[in-house]
Amino acid sequence: MTEPRAEFRVRVRPGVLPAGLRVLEQAGLEPELGGLDLRGVDALLCLLTDRIDERVLAGADRLRLVANMAVGTDNIDLEACARRGIAVSNTPDVLTDATADLTFALLLAAARRVVWGDRLVRGGGFTGWRPELGIGADVTGRTLGIVGPGRIGEAVAERAQGFRMRVLRSGRRAAPDRVGLSELLEQADFVSLHVPLSEETQHLIGEPELRRMPTHAVLINTARGPVVDERALVRALREGWIGAAGLDVFEREPRLAPGLAALSNVVLLPHLGSATVETRNRMAEIAARNVVRVLRGESIPNPVGAAPAAGLVR
Ligand code: DGY
Repeated sequence: MTEPRAEFRVRVRPGVLPAGLRVLEQAGLEPELGGLDLRGVDALLCLLTDRIDERVLAGADRLRLVANMAVGTDNIDLEACARRGIAVSNTPDVLTDATADLTFALLLAAARRVVWGDRLVRGGGFTGWRPELGIGADVTGRTLGIVGPGRIGEAVAERAQGFRMRVLRSGRRAAPDRVGLSELLEQADFVSLHVPLSEETQHLIGEPELRRMPTHAVLINTARGPVVDERALVRALREGWIGAAGLDVFEREPRLAPGLAALSNVVLLPHLGSATVETRNRMAEIAARNVVRVLRGESIPNPVGAAPAAGLVR
């Protein structure tokens, strides 16, 4: 197998894990850690916090690939890349289980007041067992609504079987238990979001949707923050339209909507969905392997968008 030419310039954004750098070095490349001035750069290995838009791409005179170390690619202007013949790749599959596990952790934490309880004990407020102390919601046997039953949504549904939950699905894919979004919101005790962020899914859950949910319902978001209208969610949690929420992602990440942090019926995490050692290392390796492949002129297994992903070596 031919190695990519050493003179190819690969820009790697600070924060990409060493596992990814090792893959590039083993292929004879010399990754450059640096910013988003992409003049003279052949491939970019970037993070989901990097906005790859027209402004960045305008300076990219040799770029062949944007390899995102994430499954979501909403940080990248896919159309602008396609127009310039720049391929885009992501890291699907490898983070499915870690993200589904964290979704369930949030669901259980929000339903059973885990964070509230931890704070109470640490703060010295636990003065002894009482029958009414920290009462939460049952999970076992309840109804879980999966909005966007793709890889991660299905992995969450799989975990729900262990809790003998009834699962409803709403999304594009055909499934026997597929229902419309309104029906799902009205029937589910727990609603878990797994749609990618797009114009179509931005504010998919806003005031009308939150008002459809039962007052005890719990909303979980491990997808992308802007899928939920966060200001409406603050009102829903404060005024009791729904019971609780578990959020791993935020509309204006890392900032929170005013009032969100003050609420005790929401569990907040700093975008930890894929945050396990093995998963994050594998994400970095997959993204780096895509760089090596494209610079060798090979196809990549996970292209995103319309641009050609093979035979790009000039
Ligand atoms: C992704 O990959 O898109 C997640 O949000 C971070 O792992």
